[in-house]
Amino acid sequence: MEYRGYDSAGVAVVADGAISYRKKAGKIVNLVADLEANPLPDSGLGIGHTRWATHGGPTDANAHPHVSTGDRVALIHNGIIENFAVLRAELEAEGTEFTSETDSEAAAQLLGREVSAGVDLADAMRAVCNRLEGAFTLVAVDALEPHRLVAARRNSPLVVGVGDGENFVASDVSAFIEFTRFAIELGQDQVVDVTADSIVVTDFAGNPADTHPFEVTWDLSAAEKSGYDWFMRKEIYEQPRAVADTLLGRYNTDGSLKLDELHIPESELRLVDKIVIVACGTAYYAGLVAKYAIEHWTRIACEVEIASEFRYRDPIITRSTLVVTLSQSGETADTLMAIRHAREQHAKVIAICNTNGATIPRESDAVIYTHAGPEIGVASTKGFLTQVAACYLLGLYLAQVRGTMYDDEIHAVMAELAATPPLIQKVLDELDPIKELAKRFIDQKSVLFLGRHVGYPVALEGALKLKEIAYLHAEGFPAGELKHGPIALVEEGIPIFIIVPPQGRDQLHDKVVSNIQEVRARGALTIVLAEEGDHEVDPYADVLFRLPKVSTLLQPLVATVPLQMFACELATLKGYDVDQPRNLAKSVTVE
Ligand code: AGP
Repeated sequence: MEYRGYDSAGVAVVADGAISYRKKAGKIVNLVADLEANPLPDSGLGIGHTRWATHGGPTDANAHPHVSTGDRVALIHNGIIENFAVLRAELEAEGTEFTSETDSEAAAQLLGREVSAGVDLADAMRAVCNRLEGAFTLVAVDALEPHRLVAARRNSPLVVGVGDGENFVASDVSAFIEFTRFAIELGQDQVVDVTADSIVVTDFAGNPADTHPFEVTWDLSAAEKSGYDWFMRKEIYEQPRAVADTLLGRYNTDGSLKLDELHIPESELRLVDKIVIVACGTAYYAGLVAKYAIEHWTRIACEVEIASEFRYRDPIITRSTLVVTLSQSGETADTLMAIRHAREQHAKVIAICNTNGATIPRESDAVIYTHAGPEIGVASTKGFLTQVAACYLLGLYLAQVRGTMYDDEIHAVMAELAATPPLIQKVLDELDPIKELAKRFIDQKSVLFLGRHVGYPVALEGALKLKEIAYLHAEGFPAGELKHGPIALVEEGIPIFIIVPPQGRDQLHDKVVSNIQEVRARGALTIVLAEEGDHEVDPYADVLFRLPKVSTLLQPLVATVPLQMFACELATLKGYDVDQPRNLAKSVTVE
């Protein structure tokens, strides 16, 4: 399960009326060494977990399993428990002492309280699930039941492995595929009660639930990719969930923002007179998208800087400057050096990062973690979309704190943002034309991408994806810039992707339609991405890909996805290693 990302790991077994467990921060080899030095007792029942931290850094104490007070139950958790703080306060008020910073421990302590009060383990699990809000897969064991485990899922994967005289539960089949290929997929809001020779599935109310048995035909490698050919393709399809998880818990039901994790006093945020976003590569393009939104919502000047250029140009940074760094890995050396420089100039630094406890968030004043889950493919996809989503949250929060938008305006944008995951899913469900398109360009030497406003950074990102994994010359331009030189590149048959902004009040849409005509008149093959119902573009589109209707500023969340898939498909057709492209690394830890 290491491929799922880990910053800590642990195991627990039930033997001799007790729970024995070991858990260690860092790589799994650390846990193995600890187990060799401190072996667990023999047992026929155990649970294990590799953690990708969301709440609480990667430490031994925050590693799973979490054991309830008195060591009665052990529990492991994947996902985000949105209301953990309320539950923790309730338990602490009763005298429960927590030993970690995690949201997961709240579930463990709740379960321990139920079981210690004599509630059956499965009934206790159902009671706990009915208290939790958010996304969770839970697996738990009871010290006094050495032959039984219970598990539950909501908005997070869980699958049962059906063995011969043994059974398994796991996040995905790769955990047990070497022991059995017979599996049962659990549905939403279900609890499974498992022994070596019985599997009982109910809903959260205790009613028997339908099960979906299947046979796993994948090999282990394919299983780690959930059956996809590449981690990148899997991660493209994970984007609705990744964006939803990144938004989860950061806004109230009325649409107001709550970024409790920021820990920067609102009074300080009100004094900010400039924002500088610093990042590299795809993260830099996410920053370019953010600039449009943040400036529009907060009326604060927002510069976006390539990290490797930033600190060498003697930038103007003061105590009133807010520096925001974007980094999926949190280890990019150029970005790290840039924020060190910014902090030397007494700027406040907020990190938007996908890796809990990484160097960049540790060296920043505050952090907003994206919850994309581990991104294995070198070419960033869900990392980009979740960085954009997190920047939107920050922009709306700043507008809320500084009063530069009316509350109902903020709530309306937040409501639309919260509704984007299903729209991203809709794009994913309609990608076949993009896959067909890739076949036409397998021998293409150059591709151009055009966009205006937030469509421009999307064009840059689409071009970068193609460069990175299909090794193709590709360039993104502001559509309005074409006539100032790049249009000389346009020749018969050159494919040009054009991201068309939504039809609206401003001139933006019509000017891009004119740009399409300009390039088509010179022989380009125009691949037009335009919202549903926009028929002004029809006469000028050789290929037309429809996008769901969203506001201009939010369009990158849907417009980027077809470009990601086009690059993935073309690189696959060319026979390249999509996940580990030549010359590249997932995290560039050298300057
Ligand atoms: C994106 O597909 C590339 N892998 C690369 O540009 C990447 O975005 C850049 O190196 C920044 O990485 P980070 O987000 O981990 O800091």
